[in-house]
Amino acid sequence: MTAIVDVTALCKAYSDGFEALKGVDLKINEGEILALLGPNGAGKTTLISTICGITTATSGNVKVGGHDTVTDFRAARAMIGLVPQEINLEPFECVQNTVKFSRGLFGKPANPALIEKILRQLSLWDKRDSQIRALSGGMKRRVLIAKALSHEPRVLFLDEPSAGVDVELRRDMWEIVADLKRDGVTIILTTHYIEEAEAIADRIGVIAQGEILLIEDKDKLMARMGRKELEVQLSEPITQIPDSLVSDALRIRDDGTALIYTYDTKSERTGITTLLSQVAAEGLVLRDVVTRQSSLEDIFVDLVREGDA
Ligand SMILES: Nc1ncnc2c1ncn2[C@@H]1O[C@H](COP(=O)(O)OP(=O)(O)O)[C@@H](O)[C@H]1O
Ligand SMILES: [Mg+2]
Repeated sequence: MTAIVDVTALCKAYSDGFEALKGVDLKINEGEILALLGPNGAGKTTLISTICGITTATSGNVKVGGHDTVTDFRAARAMIGLVPQEINLEPFECVQNTVKFSRGLFGKPANPALIEKILRQLSLWDKRDSQIRALSGGMKRRVLIAKALSHEPRVLFLDEPSAGVDVELRRDMWEIVADLKRDGVTIILTTHYIEEAEAIADRIGVIAQGEILLIEDKDKLMARMGRKELEVQLSEPITQIPDSLVSDALRIRDDGTALIYTYDTKSERTGITTLLSQVAAEGLVLRDVVTRQSSLEDIFVDLVREGDA
C-alpha cells in the first residue's frame, strides 16, 4: 500500500519551549480510516495542524501525496481537507455561501452540483439559506465538514469530530465517515473516545505526551481483547513454575504469590480444568482464583500510564 501521508521525525516546540511533538513517525495508507486516540494535551491537534501546514514544525518533515508540506505547500494543502476542533464560522453568512467560498479559496472553479451533493450528504440542503448563527452546534459541525470537503480533498482530517455532540449526531458522523471512505477519501480523526476508535477505524494509533505509543490494525487490537487472564493465587509463594506446568500461557507474578494464565475466551478448550488439576497435583494450595478481561481501554490506560512514568 502507498502512504498518502508520510510523517518523518516530526518535532514541534512551541515558543514557550514546550515540546508538544517529540519525533513522530507516521505513515497513513491511502483509503484507510486512522483514529488517533489520546488524552487531552497529548498533541493530537498539534500533529494534525503541523501535517496540514497550519503550524510550523521545529524539525522533521511531512509529505502528502508526495508533496512536501513546506517546500510544496500549495500542492500538499490542496489534497487536504481539515475539520478543526473549534468552530470558526462567519455567523451572518448562509450555509451555501460559506461552503462555496471555501472552494473558491482553493482556486477551484464554481461547481454548484458538487456543493449540492455535499450539502445533501450532510443533511444540510434544507438549511442551505440559513445563517450560520441560526444553526445548532451539531449543524455547525456539519458545515465545517462541508467546507472541508468543498475542494474535493483526498485526505480528510477530523479533529475531535464528536466532542460535545449528542449520541445521534455522533452516529451520523460515523456514517458520513464511512460514506467518504467508500468514495476513496483517506480519513484521519482524533478522538479521546475509545468507542469511537473501535466503531469506525481501520487502524488505531495511541498518542500521549507528544509520542505515538502504538499503531496497530483495529482487528488485531480487538483480538487481544478476546483474551482473558486467570490469576491463581497461592497460599505459599513459589520461586519458579513447576516443570509439569511450564507453558507459554503461564507466568508467575513478580512476588511469586500467583500464577497468571492467559487464555482465549473464544476457543473451545480454555485449558483451565487441566491447569487447576495440575496445580493440585503439584501440591500447591490455592488461596483464590480471579479472572480478568483485557480491553482496548486497559491497553490504552496502561500505555498512557507508562508514558507518564
Ligand atoms: N500555542 C501553544 N503554545 C504553547 N503550548 C501549546 C500551544 N498549543 C498547545 N500547547 C500545548 O501542547 C500540548 C498539546 O496540545 P494539543 O495538541 O492541543 O493536544 P490535544 O489536541 O491532544 O488535546 C498541550 O500540553 C498544550 O497545552
Ligand atoms: Mg485537540
